[in-house]
Amino acid sequence: MSARTMEPIRTEIRSLEPYVPGKPVEELERELKISGAIKLASNENPLGPSPLAVEAMGEAARSVNRYPDGSSFYLRESLSSFWGVPFEQIAVGSGSNDLIDVLCRIHLGPADEAVMSAPAFMMFAIAVRVAGGKLVQVPGKDLFHDPPAMLAAVNERTRLVYFSNPDNPTGTIVGRRQMDAYFDRVPDHVLTILDEAYFEYVTDPEYPNGLDYLRKGKQVAVLRTFSKIYALAGLRVGYGFFTPELAALVHRVRLPFNVTSMGQAAARASLRDGEQVSRSRVLNEAGKQFLLRELSRLGVSCTPTWANFVLARFPGSAVEASRALEGLGVIIRPVTPFGLSPEYARISVGTPSELERLVDGLRRVL
Ligand SMILES: Cc1ncc(COP(=O)(O)O)c(C=O)c1O
Repeated sequence: MSARTMEPIRTEIRSLEPYVPGKPVEELERELKISGAIKLASNENPLGPSPLAVEAMGEAARSVNRYPDGSSFYLRESLSSFWGVPFEQIAVGSGSNDLIDVLCRIHLGPADEAVMSAPAFMMFAIAVRVAGGKLVQVPGKDLFHDPPAMLAAVNERTRLVYFSNPDNPTGTIVGRRQMDAYFDRVPDHVLTILDEAYFEYVTDPEYPNGLDYLRKGKQVAVLRTFSKIYALAGLRVGYGFFTPELAALVHRVRLPFNVTSMGQAAARASLRDGEQVSRSRVLNEAGKQFLLRELSRLGVSCTPTWANFVLARFPGSAVEASRALEGLGVIIRPVTPFGLSPEYARISVGTPSELERLVDGLRRVL
């Protein structure tokens, strides 16, 4: 394309790095002409969705000739009673990614700044740039967020501060004491986004619940998702808790039918299946302990993790190791796109047999 035909495109968009998702199993199988590949690269729940959700989807499938309920009324009602948050403070999105994007579009104009830790969830960086804001990345400390340094980066042009808690790709958290101290000091003209995509996996009593800050009247948006422990990643359903004023604006800015009817039905049904959530948490804890132990035996060190994945530091190049593992039908995620060095890779906690296969593969490639 000639420079002339590119002219109407905004400079920020032209320089945007695309988000690199984990490689799909089907793509690897097609490339290598193999079958039975496994993916431990996108922090999905390997148990699969609740049977109640599958049944609800089947029922909803019969009516997909109709547009979904544009306000996701019943899902918001279910979320309201499940979490004890007033209905008018809840909005849902096509994954929590959608809500990250909407919040950036609501808050950021050309001179406005948004602060995030580095490394942290890349979609926020992309959403800031697409909205036209200025991204300020604050290096973490030993792969943990550094809230005092993030506060120091706040100025009168700052509109958003973003925490992924637990963080992706590190798996680390900001504890309650640090978060309390942050909220004591952050100025009122800043909205803090607490992205709690892995909330239900965290068992540490020091992990703060973002809702407590919202209930105390802080300027905060708390984002959660059905993609992780609820195992509905393919349906794209996320949700957020906001002040009533901000929730009303989110409804104005989001697309009218942003959550499908099958997504709404499956999400509501999932909330009724607490046992599936407990089973998923137990499976994750056991898998994580196995992974940490076996990786350490292989000379691979891991960052402490509170989520359903580990950030592993290989003795050599993790990029090469993951390429070799792909040859054995195992997909993990190198994290150079997150700005980390090539020794690092992110590995999601799979089923026991998937993890055995990963460890066998690593024994061969390392
Ligand atoms: C920290 C974080 N936030 C948000 C998301 C996106 O979730 P969703 O599928 O709800 O868009 C992810 C997905 O990996 C994540 O790691």
